[in-house]
Order: sequence, then C-alpha cells, then structure tokens
Amino acid sequence: MSIRTVGVIGAGTIGRGVAQSFAEAGFEVILVDISPAQLDSAAAQIGRDVLVQPMLLGKPAKEDPATVLARITMGTDLAALADADFVVENVTENWDVKRKVYEQIDAICRPGVIFGVNTSAVPITRVGSVTGRPAEILGLHFMNPVPMMDTVEVVSGHFTSEDTLNTAIGLLTELGKEGIVVQDAPGFITNRVLMVTINEAIFCVQDQIASAEDVDKMFRGCFGHKMGPLETGDLIGLDTILNSITVMYESYKDSKYRPAPLLQKMVDARLLGRKTGQGFYTY
Ligand SMILES: NC(=O)c1ccc[n+]([C@@H]2O[C@H](COP(=O)([O-])OP(=O)(O)OC[C@H]3O[C@@H](n4cnc5c(N)ncnc54)[C@H](O)[C@@H]3O)[C@@H](O)[C@H]2O)c1
Repeated sequence: MSIRTVGVIGAGTIGRGVAQSFAEAGFEVILVDISPAQLDSAAAQIGRDVLVQPMLLGKPAKEDPATVLARITMGTDLAALADADFVVENVTENWDVKRKVYEQIDAICRPGVIFGVNTSAVPITRVGSVTGRPAEILGLHFMNPVPMMDTVEVVSGHFTSEDTLNTAIGLLTELGKEGIVVQDAPGFITNRVLMVTINEAIFCVQDQIASAEDVDKMFRGCFGHKMGPLETGDLIGLDTILNSITVMYESYKDSKYRPAPLLQKMVDARLLGRKTGQGFYTY
C-alpha cells in the first residue's frame, strides 16, 4: 500500500511535531485531538517552528508555513482516520486513554493500515493485544522536538511483522530520520535509562544536594551533554516523566523506578515545565 495520507492522533508536545514532520516531507496529514484548544495551539506552533527550526540548525526555511499547514487537516473526530494509510498515535501517556483510542481506530481504519505507537513506556505487545492487527502495530518513539531530531527508537512488539518494520523504517527515511529497532520492554532503551536519570536528578534537588541549575550545569560541563536532566524533564513535560516512570515501576516492580516525591508534587502543582511555563525553570 502506498502511503500518502498519515493520521496523527494527539496534538500535544510530540504529536504536533510528528504532524509537522510528515507535512514538511510532503505527506497529507489528518491531525486529530479531543481538544480544539490543543489543535489551535498546534497550528500556531507549527507556523512558528517551520520558520524558526531551520534557523536554529543554520539552514534556510524549506517552505512557507501556509504551505505546510495546508497539508494538515485538523479535527476532533477519529472517524476522519478512515482515509489514513498509516497512523501515528501520540495521546496522553495513560494506558486507559490509549486503549480506548486503539479500540476505536481498529474499527475505523482499513485492514492493513499500520499503527505506530508513540509512547514513553507502554509495552507495544499490550497495544497490539487490544486490536485485531497485532502484526501491524509497532512502537515509533519520536524525540522532542520531532522535526529537529533525526533518530527514532522503533520498537518491535511480540507479533510485529518484518513487513511492518520495513514499511515504517522506509517512511522514517522519507522524513530524513533513521529508525533503530529495539525489542519490546517497558521504557525500551531510551526511557529506561533517561527516566531514571531525570528522576534521580529530581531526588538530588529534593534532597538539597545541589540546585537544578547546578545539576544541569554539571551534565553540560562534565559530560558534554547539550542539556542537563532537569532541563530535559522540563522539555519533555514533568507529567509525562511521572507517567513514564510510574509505568516502569508498575511493570518491573523494582524500587529503582519509584517516582521522586518532588516530581509528584510539581505535577500536582501543574508545574509541568515548558508546556505550562514553569517547571524547574521559568519560560
Ligand atoms: N513529550 C515528549 O518528549 C515525548 C517524547 C516521546 C514520546 N512521548 C509520548 O507521546 C505521547 C504524548 O505525549 P505528549 O508529551 O505529547 O503529551 P501531551 O500531554 O503534551 O499531549 C497529549 C495530547 O493527547 C490529546 N488526547 C488525549 N486523549 C485523547 C483522545 N482520546 N483522542 C485524541 N487526543 C487525545 C490531549 O488533548 C493532548 O493534546 C505520550 O505517550 C508520551 O509518552 C512524549
């Protein structure tokens, strides 16, 4: 099946970047979110990022924002995905929310349409089990900001077929991205390592061993990281960090994944990082 129209579910931090990347690569995109406000905010951000992101990389903008946005049809009804040739789901990192979406799109989308699960920690095999197409389900763990990151963690679930993996990797190549295949395990590779690091850095701030600024400065200065763990947490969204580490805690039953109380407190206070304007830093 040739893929020209891509369905993107969820217009939050990561979904809007996925929609932008496909639209910039010339695909027609159907972007669906339950929140009209999120769709409005996604359109505004995509309009800005199409111009700003190439400048950050020292490159000229490829197209004007209106051309890219014209390829994205936005709406709140999943039924629009009946026209999609490929779907990437990016809704809230909560199994009950994701499960309901998969049960619906399995009935809406044509047989054979592949579903890419963009999740930080939900097992791909579990997603496959609530659909009638487990061979056509795989993890597509895009990184934020999606249009600027050229590597995607591709997760093979227990039943994911070789065809599905090859189709998805080919599609990522069309976006200018490399897919690296890993096997299915909660947190995969990236988040199994990253979430523990961010959570442990939050414990260090909570225990007053160092300020957030100094923790981040050490990761930049000592290890050459572009960003420290607390800046990274603010960029990802502290609610997503809490949800991800909680999924791993529940999956592995290992205390090394217990969320820091300060993380829980900041999420309760809606200090979620960039998306709410305040996290470990003010934006
Ligand atoms: N933020 C990151 O850096 C990052 C990176 C990789 C993967 N992810 C994963 O991507 C997913 C989304 O994360 P995010 O950070 O964009 O979250 P977010 O909270 O910014 O956005 C989630 C979006 O999903 C929408 N939504 C919720 N229920 C829905 C439904 N039933 N139908 C349609 N839309 C619905 C919400 O309105 C919201 O706009 C999560 O599973 C997360 O683990 C996030």
